[in-house]
Amino acid sequence: MLVSAKEMLVKAREGKYAVGQFNINNLEWTKAILLTAQECNSPVILGVSEGAGKYMAGMETVAAMVKAMDKSLGITVPVALHLDHGSYDGCYKCIKAGFTSIMFDGSHFPIEENVAKTTELVNVSHALGLSIEAEVGSIGGEEDGVVGAGECADPNECKMIADLGVDFLAAGIGNIHGKYPENWAGLSFETLEAVNNAVGELPLVLHGGTGIPDDMITKAISLGVAKINVNTECQLVFQEATRAYIEAGKDLQGKGFDPRKLLAPGFEAIKAKVKEKMELFGSVNKA
Ligand code: 13P
Repeated sequence: MLVSAKEMLVKAREGKYAVGQFNINNLEWTKAILLTAQECNSPVILGVSEGAGKYMAGMETVAAMVKAMDKSLGITVPVALHLDHGSYDGCYKCIKAGFTSIMFDGSHFPIEENVAKTTELVNVSHALGLSIEAEVGSIGGEEDGVVGAGECADPNECKMIADLGVDFLAAGIGNIHGKYPENWAGLSFETLEAVNNAVGELPLVLHGGTGIPDDMITKAISLGVAKINVNTECQLVFQEATRAYIEAGKDLQGKGFDPRKLLAPGFEAIKAKVKEKMELFGSVNKA
């Protein structure tokens, strides 16, 4: 059964580990992540960007697929279906479709408008039992064609948004989506510490999990990060595994063309990557 992400993240923050949010793009990714979570006995969050939702024929299709798959694979670990970087309208679409968690990314609005829209969405989500994430300080890099500047969040703004009743908060601390550039300055732990002190026990979210060195991940978890988003890293291993299969000419062997065989190496690569992350984040056996 799908659940809200609130309880699993409160537990993670208390237990000083983080739950991975792995973004899904198709049936194979969803299945790979669900099976790995079950094998690792780990809670998990399936993230869906608006672009990925469109690709999968809309959020209703996504919610129906994930619910049915969770049931038919016999998954018993807690699974949250979460909208990643949702627009205002996108949040309502996912609420209607049966998601169990949403992120409202109001970071590009002036703070007053971010506050008004977040307040409304907190009330609606909580009335329906969903969890809600908000963002302060835009995360850099490119997400569905939108390029953020990569800021460090203002701890006072974080406190203001936290006080609206969001269940977890993404604060920019120099993290960016996609690959980090050679000259990346690293995470700003000074900012993270100030945000953590400002918001109390609220679970914090680290976006742009791809390419952050392991020791920085561990330190971020010790400073209140309870949810870490990973997308690009799964894309990279999927791509590499599929390319190796084609370059070896394996797709041309056997009887006819079988898309299930073509996608199998990428599927296994995602499983291995998700397991590696769950071990690093400390969520194994925390279901
Ligand atoms: P990466 O693509 O850098 O792993 O970031 C994922 C993310 O933060 C999704 O919101």
